[in-house]
Amino acid sequence: IPVASFDCVVFGATGDLTTRKLLPALYYRFKDGQIPGTSRIIGASRSEMSAEAFRERARDAIKRFVPAVDVTQDTLAAFLDHLDYVAVDGAGDDGWTDLAEKLAERPDQVRPYYLATSPDLYGSICRNLAAHGLIGEKSRVVLEKPIGKDLKSARAINDAVGEVFPEEQIFRIDHYLGKETVQNLLALRFANTIFERLWTADVIDHVQITVGETVGVEGRAGYYDTSGALRDMVQNHMLQLLCLMAMESPLSLDANSVRDEKLKVLRALKPITPHDVQTVTVRGQYGAGAVSGQPVESYRTDLGNDAQSRTETFVALKLEVQSWRWAGVPFYLRTGKRLPKKLSEIVVQFRASPFSIFPTEAFGREPNRLVIRLQPEEGIKLEVMTKDPGPGGMRLRPTNLDISFEETFKQRYPDAYERLLMDVVRGNATLFMRRDEVEVAWAWADSLLKAWAERPEPPRPYAAGSWGPTAAIALIERDGRTWHEEMH
Ligand code: BG6
Repeated sequence: IPVASFDCVVFGATGDLTTRKLLPALYYRFKDGQIPGTSRIIGASRSEMSAEAFRERARDAIKRFVPAVDVTQDTLAAFLDHLDYVAVDGAGDDGWTDLAEKLAERPDQVRPYYLATSPDLYGSICRNLAAHGLIGEKSRVVLEKPIGKDLKSARAINDAVGEVFPEEQIFRIDHYLGKETVQNLLALRFANTIFERLWTADVIDHVQITVGETVGVEGRAGYYDTSGALRDMVQNHMLQLLCLMAMESPLSLDANSVRDEKLKVLRALKPITPHDVQTVTVRGQYGAGAVSGQPVESYRTDLGNDAQSRTETFVALKLEVQSWRWAGVPFYLRTGKRLPKKLSEIVVQFRASPFSIFPTEAFGREPNRLVIRLQPEEGIKLEVMTKDPGPGGMRLRPTNLDISFEETFKQRYPDAYERLLMDVVRGNATLFMRRDEVEVAWAWADSLLKAWAERPEPPRPYAAGSWGPTAAIALIERDGRTWHEEMH
């Protein structure tokens, strides 16, 4: 779908997100003809720098983060022509009139303000935008996570932004929602009749959601150590995945219909109390070990400055969604840094058949399992029982109905930011979080943070390159279940 001409102002233009994600994503959209001629991408940050110098930085970013096969000199040069730069102090008064003058050159453009800065600056950037008359009907503001570190701070940010932007113009990014395979969850559930009928506690035994990463804290120790895995991954990405898995069918793909349904799931999440925190949660922190055959240091060594840190780099949880559909179906979640593989997947484990007509020695009674692989090797696999070929009698074994998206579609999977940036320009907020969603997710996370604080225990150590502390295995095995085997 074509987009209108836009002036996208990126605050935090010299930061990591802009370099690694936003510029490469915009480059791809340009290459695919989605950035109309008069559009501009205006970098804004405190550093004094010429537009030319910003273009040079962008050139380096594209060369570093876009595969060489996708970069031609002509396309790159034409893309860089769309870039401009203004030095603006997000926290103070400097530079705002320069920005206002630049934007006044093209008053009719759609105007996304992308806040890729520390959230402490969101309020003052928004106030400055309003004070300089830079907010109109075609403006939108994009907020990166983290939106706060608990409910109170999230509300303060939402209040400050909400003072100058109406909710319809606020786009809170959770980049997991922009991933192709995450959107595919909507297609899988609501464009197929076969799965939705089985999507209930009668048929599903439990659900597992794993988001594993091999990286450590990667130069983000300052942020990460005040955050930890619960705030960094669970409160947002993993709860959003859980919502898409568990929600009822929305009335349409309209932003509020989808968000209304996700909100109901978040509201139905059972708060974790100090009483059950030890049986339904595990916090871990990586020690030294090896990932992909390479030795790596412990989290505390990575931090360099805080040998006593108790921040968790791994978390495993058993959650309950208190609703008719999901009563009694546990959702096991786990995520961590320095795990053996970068791998995100959702596993739907169906119940075993109620009665077997097959002799037990021939039939392991393996229940069916649906594995939705979000990254990498995106695809869907349904494990079904089949007869082993041959005259030897009725022997059964699980085999797979397996769709690999790469083999099926044979095309590049666009990065989440490509889709989300264009959705902002189009004004489509379906894949963005509404204020109430973020706040209800924080209210739930606060219950857990409070429960942890009441029983302060250091995180359990795990060796880098393992699937987390053994307690995470015990968490699921206590219930007579196991983590999906391909993980090990
Ligand atoms: C970010 C977290 O939101 O998501 C990072 O802050 C994490 O800590 C990243 O590494 C994971 O994203 P992806 O797209 O690589 O799975």
